[in-house]
Amino acid sequence: MKRRSVILSTDPGIDDAVAIALALFSEELDVKLICPIFGNVSLEHTKSNTEKLLTLYRKTPEVVSGSARPLLRDAINASDIHGESGMDGYEFPDATIFSNSSRTAVEAMHEVVNQEEQTTLVGIGPLTDIALFLHLYPQDLAKIDRIVVMGGSLGRGNYGVLSEFNFAADPEASKIVFNSGLPIQVAPLEVGNQAKIMPEVTDKIRSFGEIGEMIYQLFTKYRSGSFEAGLNMYDALAIALIVEPEMFEIVSTRVEIETATSLTYGASLIDLENYLDLPANAEVAVNVDPIQFEEWFVESLARTAE
Ligand code: RIB
Ligand code: CA
Repeated sequence: MKRRSVILSTDPGIDDAVAIALALFSEELDVKLICPIFGNVSLEHTKSNTEKLLTLYRKTPEVVSGSARPLLRDAINASDIHGESGMDGYEFPDATIFSNSSRTAVEAMHEVVNQEEQTTLVGIGPLTDIALFLHLYPQDLAKIDRIVVMGGSLGRGNYGVLSEFNFAADPEASKIVFNSGLPIQVAPLEVGNQAKIMPEVTDKIRSFGEIGEMIYQLFTKYRSGSFEAGLNMYDALAIALIVEPEMFEIVSTRVEIETATSLTYGASLIDLENYLDLPANAEVAVNVDPIQFEEWFVESLARTAE
């Protein structure tokens, strides 16, 4: 079966590191391009972290750096969750895979999309580069089969009172993506909070060789949830939405991004009750089966040891 062509825009980031492994070792996906972007930590760190991860994973998708800052707002970060490096907890071997392309992420996206019949864009960090790509290459939209994002929240946020980090990091970019007219699938915070990875699972993953040890060590420093009570695996959900959608309860609904007010800047209004009376523009995962997710998560990461 032909693998699905995928472009990853990511801000590693501990949960990104796991999502990148899930995508690269998947039997269903063909990761053509990885674009590190600012987000959890600076672009300098996310680029270096991407290179270290690919060296450890022994995988060689093209890597082209993306934006160092959001479209309009001031840059924010989540180093309190992921550590100053963005991947605290594990001493990575020196990278031997480097991205030295002079192109922008948007130019690289344009090239990859026009080499493939259809491509899935995956956003597991701020959506700045995906928004710029859609804005600069409208003729390419017909070659994008869907955009899958981890972001937003059905209720309360994890960055602001009502804003989730990825969308809050670049609200204008998020609005451009949801106004694109393309099929969009969303994994919001709440399904990440359901898909907790418990200590016994983390211990099992540790047995998956060098990559399993890395994941275990990163998890000891990851501050979203807790090692003992369960870690929130946000970005892995975007990969799961593509390869195992049946694990999820998915609702077709309207998603609007607040960009006009200071108090709710970056909030995602996921209009499950149709108060806004606007046509649906996204398919939103509102529940995930935690047992099925855990089984898929462990089975998928076991492939890194093969
Ligand atoms: O809100 C969770 C998201 O913000 C995840 O993508 C995590 O990596 C951080 O970027
Ligand atoms: Ca991320």
